[in-house]
Amino acid sequence: MTYEPWLTYFRENPSRQQKFDDALDWSRKTPLTPVQARLIARSLQRFELGEGGNGERLLAKAAQAGDPVYTAALKLFVVEEQKHSALFLKALQYLSAAPLASHWSDRAFVLLRRSLGLRMELMLFLVAESVALEYFRALRDGAPDPLIRLLGARVYSDEIEHIHFQIHRLADGYAGTPAGVRRLIHAGWWFLALGAALVLAWDHRGALRVCGVPPRRFLPAALHAFAAASAAVMSPGQNFGPSAGAYTDPDIPRAGPAADTRA
Ligand SMILES: [Fe+2]
Ligand SMILES: [Fe+2]
Repeated sequence: MTYEPWLTYFRENPSRQQKFDDALDWSRKTPLTPVQARLIARSLQRFELGEGGNGERLLAKAAQAGDPVYTAALKLFVVEEQKHSALFLKALQYLSAAPLASHWSDRAFVLLRRSLGLRMELMLFLVAESVALEYFRALRDGAPDPLIRLLGARVYSDEIEHIHFQIHRLADGYAGTPAGVRRLIHAGWWFLALGAALVLAWDHRGALRVCGVPPRRFLPAALHAFAAASAAVMSPGQNFGPSAGAYTDPDIPRAGPAADTRA
């Protein structure tokens, strides 16, 4: 399958998400207590920093791989991540918090990514996005502030599709790899996911608790999301695309603003 459906998806998604963006009225006053606001802001600061990159190196690697349609779709994927970063910045201002200039986890992630090829970098993305999916679900379902719930729902609905997008490209990449090698790589990938889930659970524990999700509940849910996504990559012969991915979560809508609009 070509990446044409993804290019169309990413081109059309901003107008689908407009309803969310219109509803995010940051001029309101937060109902969070100062402690809750500080914990959620501390957590959003890291995401604001992590998703704001211009993707220059990633796009250069994709261009080298030689599929212009995929590269064009990936470019729009980077724009979506930058949009998330801009939304987190607005949320930080709303919570009276400043953005971070840098953070060790972001520096480590960037350094690691630079040293990798396209496929390994996408594998890192899939870990980060599938593990963070549960974090955005926690914001969406449990933040005691309707605007932060809406922000969680907005980002969550994009991330679901991002995960499908990475699965599609990675499954293509591994299609010709012998089953035994795939199993070995999958096992190594799990170690990475376990580490990432532990770091996220620890580093964002304050915000997760504010949303009613203690780390012991967060960890298995985050790893379940990774298990589903990585298994889809390593099971050849499936049909991937923006509306027919192998990674599904029946209680979650795919793209679009149908999620939580309690604001
Ligand atoms: Fe994102
Ligand atoms: Fe993403």
